[in-house]
Amino acid sequence: MDTRRLRIVLPGGSGQVGSMLAAYFQERGHYVTVLTRGPYTASWQTVHWDGVNPGSWIETLEGADVCIHLSGRSINCRHTEQNRKALYDSRIGTTRLLGQVMSVLDNPPRVWLNASSATIYRHALDRDMDEATGEIGGGERISKRRRAPEKWDWAVKLVKDWEAAFFSAQTPRTRKVALRTSLVFGPAPGSVFEVLSNLVRASLGGNQGSGRQYVSWIHETDYARAVEFLIDHEGIEGPVNLTAPNPLPNREFMQALRNAWDVPNGLPAPALFIKIGAIFMRTEPELVLKSRRVVPGRLLDAGFNFQFPAWASAAEDLVRQWRARSS
Ligand SMILES: NC(=O)c1ccc[n+]([C@@H]2O[C@H](COP(=O)([O-])OP(=O)(O)OC[C@H]3O[C@@H](n4cnc5c(N)ncnc54)[C@H](OP(=O)(O)O)[C@@H]3O)[C@@H](O)[C@H]2O)c1
Repeated sequence: MDTRRLRIVLPGGSGQVGSMLAAYFQERGHYVTVLTRGPYTASWQTVHWDGVNPGSWIETLEGADVCIHLSGRSINCRHTEQNRKALYDSRIGTTRLLGQVMSVLDNPPRVWLNASSATIYRHALDRDMDEATGEIGGGERISKRRRAPEKWDWAVKLVKDWEAAFFSAQTPRTRKVALRTSLVFGPAPGSVFEVLSNLVRASLGGNQGSGRQYVSWIHETDYARAVEFLIDHEGIEGPVNLTAPNPLPNREFMQALRNAWDVPNGLPAPALFIKIGAIFMRTEPELVLKSRRVVPGRLLDAGFNFQFPAWASAAEDLVRQWRARSS
């Protein structure tokens, strides 16, 4: 990595991924600033913004080296009209605002990484989706008789609009990379790893849906290392898939998680059960039932080495970390 101390600004960096990245870069000696609607307490600098209007927070970006924009209302909710507006505005609105601000800075960051999602690709059981040959979703068939539900299409459109707002920003002096991220697995409380682990430990961690749908995932250590790699590699711009190279069917994914926890069996959850359960859990079944078979073509081509390329060893590491933290 660049041995200089970098000034790294993370709008929306108070959440799961942002807190992990902020700690990662601070440990390596960089100056980290999180823009938050907060306030909240952290060992790095936090500066107030409202995500809607320009304000004195703009000064944090003047002369900064890197902007990593992570704002977004959690996708883990029912996609009602009201929530759709919040999901949209918190991603597209904040991205547009940053674009406007960066276009008038005297010394804008030399690189802007913007959150995006691997959900942009179609429901894929048949083949891997990389950046070059992957097909963008929307309106695809999910079986001979059925098209993808409207809610899946809407989630794809959300990500397409998010990237469009990002790439249309007029920032000629700033390199831009959209982080098409799959599920990020870390041991923090409230994370998707904890949710799935709780199911497994209650012997409820069997196949979800048919179990044939693929799960794309990335260990948080590799996510942070990949972000660092993208900051360093000045030739890389455009969309980049941030996901481990080995997505796997849900059946195998849950089996490996059960093995990591030494839990021999798990009650399966058929699709109908997931759909009904999602209503009670105030979430969307798409998060589990859509097949995400996404691979990191550009990172691998550029020579990035994953520390956790396989889910079994990633799950073992996360269980180890979780146990160390709880003992
Ligand atoms: N975690 C994953 O597995 C994953 C996978 C794919 C993509 N992503 C994307 O990566 C980004 C970061 O993920 P994360 O898991 O760290 O998300 P998170 O924990 O939900 O945090 C996102 C941050 O966005 C800010 N935010 C929420 N609602 C907002 C609003 N209405 N207006 C402005 N800011 C708002 C919040 O910061 P303040 O309250 O401090 O302002 C929050 O801490 C998100 O955009 C997410 O969609 C994450």
